[in-house]
Amino acid sequence: MHKTKNPKMKNIKKMASAAGSAKKAAPRAPKTEAILRDADKFLLPTYKRQPIVFTHGRGCYVYDSRGKKYLDFLGGIAVNALGHAHPRIVKVIRRESARAIHLSNLFHNSFQGPLARTLAEWSGMDRVFFSNSGAEAIEGALKLARLHGRASTDAPASPARKYRILALDNSFHGRTFGAVSVTSTEKYRLPFAPLVPGVEFVRFNDVADLESKFDDTVCAILLETIQGEGGIYPVSEEFWNRARSLATKHGALLIADEIQCGLGRTGRYFAYQKFPSKPDMAVVAKPLAAGLPLGAILTTEAVAQRIAPGLHGTTFGGGPLACATALEFLNIVDSENLLANIRARAEELHDGLVDLATKFDFIREIRGEGLMIGVELSIDGAPFVSQALDRGLLINCTHDHTLRLLPPFILSRAQVRQFLRLFEKILATTPQKAVVADPAKTVSASQPALVAAR
Ligand SMILES: Cc1ncc(COP(=O)(O)O)c(C=O)c1O
Repeated sequence: MHKTKNPKMKNIKKMASAAGSAKKAAPRAPKTEAILRDADKFLLPTYKRQPIVFTHGRGCYVYDSRGKKYLDFLGGIAVNALGHAHPRIVKVIRRESARAIHLSNLFHNSFQGPLARTLAEWSGMDRVFFSNSGAEAIEGALKLARLHGRASTDAPASPARKYRILALDNSFHGRTFGAVSVTSTEKYRLPFAPLVPGVEFVRFNDVADLESKFDDTVCAILLETIQGEGGIYPVSEEFWNRARSLATKHGALLIADEIQCGLGRTGRYFAYQKFPSKPDMAVVAKPLAAGLPLGAILTTEAVAQRIAPGLHGTTFGGGPLACATALEFLNIVDSENLLANIRARAEELHDGLVDLATKFDFIREIRGEGLMIGVELSIDGAPFVSQALDRGLLINCTHDHTLRLLPPFILSRAQVRQFLRLFEKILATTPQKAVVADPAKTVSASQPALVAAR
């Protein structure tokens, strides 16, 4: 066999053989029981987790450590819009992780500017700031709103005259201090009081309540265009229009939290694009970087003019790997015509669910748009989630009685049929628990019995 005399080549061969043996000797993944024991003993008990260890996914399916396959109608809670292991996403992550995972916001990277440009084109906004998560984007949006509300005559060290932030009942905006301060659910807020001052809640879709609380001291009204965690409740056009006109009249900002409902989920780039007017700011995260952590604040030139270097920032936000992946995600949504797919699959799901609602009288209502659907039950929803897991379907339940469906944008017609078959079996075989007295108690707006999930 030919022997090399080049010492460099020798080293490379040595490294290659070391890498080979490292591969052979790589520690095997711990056994399921050991993983669960470690989690139980060493993790903060912040989540009520199922005793399942997921190991990988492909397309609209995920697999657990015991080899069981699940149809994923949860999508990592609206994150995995392209399902799992999308080949174009895998390719970009492989390529870019070998080039630069992190640089610094003290310099430019190749992807932040082009990504901001595409997001501006999608949203109709002018400028973008990148964060690492949804809650962090909300924090930035609240800071920008306070900054925008500050007049040159306000004393620099004291609160601005225009400081109040209106948010909605039944809202969810995240877990950081600012985000939890604009989240209405008491169990998320009260243990951490006192919270950020100046926040007031408006009854959901209640225009009279909005009008009574809006004046010149308001710097922003923040709303989820479709409430997600709250149980899939879309803001009405009447409420949006009034929020828009009051914000304009009083020099306040209308901020749309599109972290769950934005970036295509409704079959439009942004959920607010069904309304005749735009917000002053939109906040996105979840699916943006196809599973890598990335959020963004999109806003107008007028708002952007109030910010200056040093007033806001982040170490990780907008790194090259996350931005390259996000740019590919946006390209895939366009080049694979996913908005049209979302609308087509949503219609099939809607028809199928309406059909099921005629067979099961404990289905009270079907709400939502696109691939963001709530199936409200008049009974406890948790047993249906467990039964679904047993049968290899991932869904979840919000507010005790609303089953939430957030499937990937790449869902196929066959997978819709598979879901409907599975879901019917689950509805038919789950033991039914307590009847919920008034499931609509958290939201004051009246809802039609069956709302189209278009
Ligand atoms: C509408 C909405 N806003 C904000 C957040 C918070 O985002 P993150 O969990 O990335 O901080 C969420 C998360 O579920 C959300 O659904």
